Amino acid sequence: MRPEAEREDQAAGQDAPGSTPIRVAVAGAAGRMGQTVCAAVDGAGDMELTGRPDPTLGTAVSEVLADADVLVDFTTPGTAVANAREAVAAGVHVVIGTTGFDPAELDELAGAPANVFVAPNFAIGAVLMMEFARQAAAHMARAEIIELHHERKLDKPSGTAARTGALMSQAAPALGEIPIHSVRLPGLVAHQEVILGDVGQTLTIRHDSTDRESFMPGVLLAIRRVRALTGSPVVGLEHLL
Ligand SMILES: NC(=O)c1ccc[n+]([C@@H]2O[C@H](COP(=O)([O-])OP(=O)(O)OC[C@H]3O[C@@H](n4cnc5c(N)ncnc54)[C@H](O)[C@@H]3O)[C@@H](O)[C@H]2O)c1
Repeated sequence: MRPEAEREDQAAGQDAPGSTPIRVAVAGAAGRMGQTVCAAVDGAGDMELTGRPDPTLGTAVSEVLADADVLVDFTTPGTAVANAREAVAAGVHVVIGTTGFDPAELDELAGAPANVFVAPNFAIGAVLMMEFARQAAAHMARAEIIELHHERKLDKPSGTAARTGALMSQAAPALGEIPIHSVRLPGLVAHQEVILGDVGQTLTIRHDSTDRESFMPGVLLAIRRVRALTGSPVVGLEHLL
């Protein structure tokens, strides 16, 4: 990964009024996230929803690439990398929100004719939670993570929890691997607590996504920026903020 080489050239004018809309296809369009992303793209003045590939809608990713500038992927851990491979080979940039696979699998796409951006969490509050946890890690003796999600989530631990733990361990190697506890219950959307402990005190950093709308500003930002990344793949919304 090359997270340092991430910035777009703002002068590209992608958001300029009157400029050509970004043509966006959404893989997993029939899913919980996919439906919300389709609505957000539809409502964005600078984007056009040109494809809704999803097996339950009878449309394959290969059928929508000719009409897309960017493919957004909210599918399953077993399909996201293959979809990305197919898209970049066709010159279509990719924004991946799917979790449950190792982002290092995308390293093979470095130098491809199109860019790949992946974020385990597109909510700004979650990005801040990860950053605060990373900063706190060096100052406390121990830490554990509790992540809580709706009962139909396929992967465990969540991509957000895995990334938070990795960032904390990098910042504070003495913590070792951070234990992660996963809760799956109806009524939940996406929640995480990072609890740090030291003599006579604990510090809890908590983030709650109570609605999938929380992810949409980050997803739209990534769609606008992915084409002008100067390195690829890029992992983490913090590189676009
Ligand atoms: N990055 C984030 O901020 C964020 C936020 C929420 C969820 N997620 C992740 O997004 C993913 C999707 O979550 P969800 O709740 O919408 O799941 P979901 O099960 O509701 O939807 C997944 C959809 O993908 C479709 N699909 C399966 N294989 C496909 C393929 N090859 N091509 C196109 N579509 C295909 C399925 O038919 C289904 O409609 C999960 O990995 C989840 O963890 C990420």
